[in-house]
Amino acid sequence: MNLILIGPMGAGKSTLAKLLAHQLQLAWIDLDAAIVAKAGCAIPEIFQTKGEGAFRDLESELLQKCCTEQHAQIIATGGGAVLRAQNRAIMQQYGAVVWLDIAPEISSQRIAGDTNRPLLAGASALERAQTLALERNPLYASIAAFTINTGEYSPQASVARIVTFYRGLSA
Ligand code: S3P
Repeated sequence: MNLILIGPMGAGKSTLAKLLAHQLQLAWIDLDAAIVAKAGCAIPEIFQTKGEGAFRDLESELLQKCCTEQHAQIIATGGGAVLRAQNRAIMQQYGAVVWLDIAPEISSQRIAGDTNRPLLAGASALERAQTLALERNPLYASIAAFTINTGEYSPQASVARIVTFYRGLSA
């Protein structure tokens, strides 16, 4: 069973995916990195030259590919991967979805000033994180089998809880 991490920018999806892969002895993939590899350029450049729609198309294509080609890996998605209903359906069908929930006040501190995240351009990180949370939290909640507030735990403590959840699925 794939373990799919969803949640906003700055929730710790990539960091925890790596730690979880080590602990569970599974492969892990970062969807954003796969998009960059396929597009041959950085995320801000994809947004700028091809538009967000093109980024979302690539995101859907690669999400589907990595969910269906391997069945026991950790997948770190991008914060907006839940936007399309088709993506949400694939994640639910092919994995156990874990929502890394985090207060905008905390995630915005982690991502402030990051130039690799085009959705932050031109807005304060806190305002942006708050707006996105309002729009997206219902979507994260709609497919999450397990939710953890990563702002409240150390990465190691978050990993321990997610591992218990994941192992419980096959017990
Ligand atoms: C996005 C989040 C980013 C990346 C892109 C769009 C979003 O991923 O996919 O910049 O829509 O929230 P992270 O959540 O890994 O930063």
